Amino acid sequence: MSKKKFAKESATIMTEMVLPNDTNTLNNLMGGRLMHWMDIVAAIAAQKHSNRIVVTAAADSISFKQPISLGNVVTLVAKVTRAFNSSMEVYIEVSAEDIPASKKTITHRAFFTFVAVDQNGKPIEVPEVVPETEEELELFDGALRRRQLRLVLAKRMKPEDAKELKSIFNLEITK
Ligand SMILES: CC(C)(COP(=O)(O)OP(=O)(O)OC[C@H]1O[C@@H](n2cnc3c(N)ncnc32)[C@H](O)[C@@H]1OP(=O)(O)O)[C@@H](O)C(=O)NCCC(=O)NCCS
Repeated sequence: MSKKKFAKESATIMTEMVLPNDTNTLNNLMGGRLMHWMDIVAAIAAQKHSNRIVVTAAADSISFKQPISLGNVVTLVAKVTRAFNSSMEVYIEVSAEDIPASKKTITHRAFFTFVAVDQNGKPIEVPEVVPETEEELELFDGALRRRQLRLVLAKRMKPEDAKELKSIFNLEITK
């Protein structure tokens, strides 16, 4: 990789208010709208890191544990955790705030993967990430295992090649 950049340089914050057009018939934010916002904030973080055009390659499983209500203010914070060759993993944390009630809750956490591409859509190398804080270091360390898991699930990596992923299960590496 040509260059190194601090994780904090990609930090991106997006704030939205849940309006009637964003909701389902129970007056809660629709999952698809939230995923759209996640995709945008994470793409901006990946662009800031790479200074390139980026495309979404993968979104890890997202579960919707609690609804976000009409009128809530939603804050999405995204940061690149680690870069590989042309791909970058982005961590997104979502919180919902009922401002009149002074109540704020973290509602979602997710990892998206973006690939930097040239004008012809061909993957292109990105700078390395330099983590600094304890959280950034933890996310950086875990990124390799998460990458292996998603590449195995996408049938882009053989399970026997996912060595770091196997090590967390203490499985014997046979090949
Ligand atoms: C993402 C894309 C550029 C990868 O192109 P490709 O020809 O498969 O390129 P490569 O095999 O060289 O892979 C490039 C990188 O993508 C990563 N990648 C590809 N598919 C992936 C997946 N499902 N999950 C995670 N990473 C993935 C590879 O691991 C590789 O990472 P690395 O360079 O850091 O090692 C290509 O599949 C694409 O353009 N997809 C459509 C993107 C898009 O339109 N997104 C919006 C969806 S509507």
